[in-house]
Amino acid sequence: MSQGRVPVCGEVSWKGLEPSNLLYVCSCGHVDDYDPLLVESRRQYLETEREAGLEIVVAHVGGRPLGFAEIVPLETAARDVGGDHAVLLHCVNVFERGRGLGRALVTEVSRRAAAQGRGVVVDACSHVWGFMPEEFFLRLGFDVAEDRGRRRLMHRSLPPDARQPYYLEPRYDPPPAAGGQVLVDVFFTPLCSGRLSEEAAVIRRAAASYGDRVLVREWDASDPVIRKRFGIARAIFVNGLMRPNDDTIALDEAAALIVDALTRPASTQPVWDDSISRLF
Ligand SMILES: CC(C)(COP(=O)(O)OP(=O)(O)OC[C@H]1O[C@@H](n2cnc3c(N)ncnc32)[C@H](O)[C@@H]1OP(=O)(O)O)[C@@H](O)C(=O)NCCC(=O)NCCS
Repeated sequence: MSQGRVPVCGEVSWKGLEPSNLLYVCSCGHVDDYDPLLVESRRQYLETEREAGLEIVVAHVGGRPLGFAEIVPLETAARDVGGDHAVLLHCVNVFERGRGLGRALVTEVSRRAAAQGRGVVVDACSHVWGFMPEEFFLRLGFDVAEDRGRRRLMHRSLPPDARQPYYLEPRYDPPPAAGGQVLVDVFFTPLCSGRLSEEAAVIRRAAASYGDRVLVREWDASDPVIRKRFGIARAIFVNGLMRPNDDTIALDEAAALIVDALTRPASTQPVWDDSISRLF
C-alpha cells in the first residue's frame, strides 16, 4: 500500500455495468477524451457478451466508479490463450491508485471465479508502461505459466483438475502478393473496443489514396475458427512483416508502413515480432 494514502477497501460497493458507470467502463476511464463511436461499439460488445459469460465488476466508492475489472470464461475468450477451469481477467483498471482498490478488485474477481469452480488467468506485461504489470500480479500471488516476449501468462487459484494456461501457437502464412498489391492483415480482439477495429480504420484512412493497390483485411479473434487457424489475437502484418510496436497504430505510422511496402518486394515468409501477438 502506498504510504500516506487512505485505504479504500472498506467503502467499496460492487456493481455491474449500469448507467452510472457505463461511460467510465466503455471509455476505459477516459471520460474526458474518448471516441463516441468506439465507446458505443464497446458498449454493444460488452452488453451482448454478458450472455456468454463476460462479467464487468465495477468498484464504486462514495457513489463514484473508481475501478473495474472484466472477466470472461477462458475457454471462449477472444485472446490467443488456451486452458480451462479459469476465467481470463482481461483487464483491471483503477482510477485512484495505491489505495488497495486493485487488490480488492482481483480478490472480488477470484471470489466470483471460485464460485464457478474456476481460477483466474491473466495475460500480463513485463515493463510496458505499467500496462497490466506483472509485478502487481506477482505481489497478489499469481504464478507465471509462460512468457512470450514482454507478455507473461499468469494464474492464481486454479482448481487441481485445471490445465496450466498456455499461449496458442501463432500461424500466419502471407498469401502470395498479387501484382504489387500491398496486403495488410489486421488481427483484433473486440474485448477492447468492440467489433469496430480502430486500427483497421486507421490503416484504411492511410491507404485511401492508393485505391486497389492496398487491401486491408480484418480478423476478429472472437471467432473460434479464426483463433484456431491463426492463434493470433492482436497483430498487424503488412506484406508479411509483423509491425514491431505495442502501441495502437497512428495514421502517420500506418502511412509510412504502406509507403515502405509499396517500394519493396513482399515477403513470402512471415517476419514475427517477439511479442506475438500484441496485448493492446
Ligand atoms: C495495477 C493496478 C491495477 C494497481 O492498482 P492499485 O489500486 O494501485 O493497487 P493496490 O493499491 O491494490 O496495490 C496492491 C499491492 O500491489 C502493489 N502494486 C500496485 N501496483 C504495482 C505495480 N505497478 N508494481 C508492483 N506492485 C504494485 C502495491 O504496492 C500493493 O502491495 P501491498 O498491498 O502488498 O503493499 C493499477 O495501477 C492500474 O489500474 N494500472 C493499469 C492497469 C492496466 O493497464 N489496465 C488495462 C487498461 S486498458
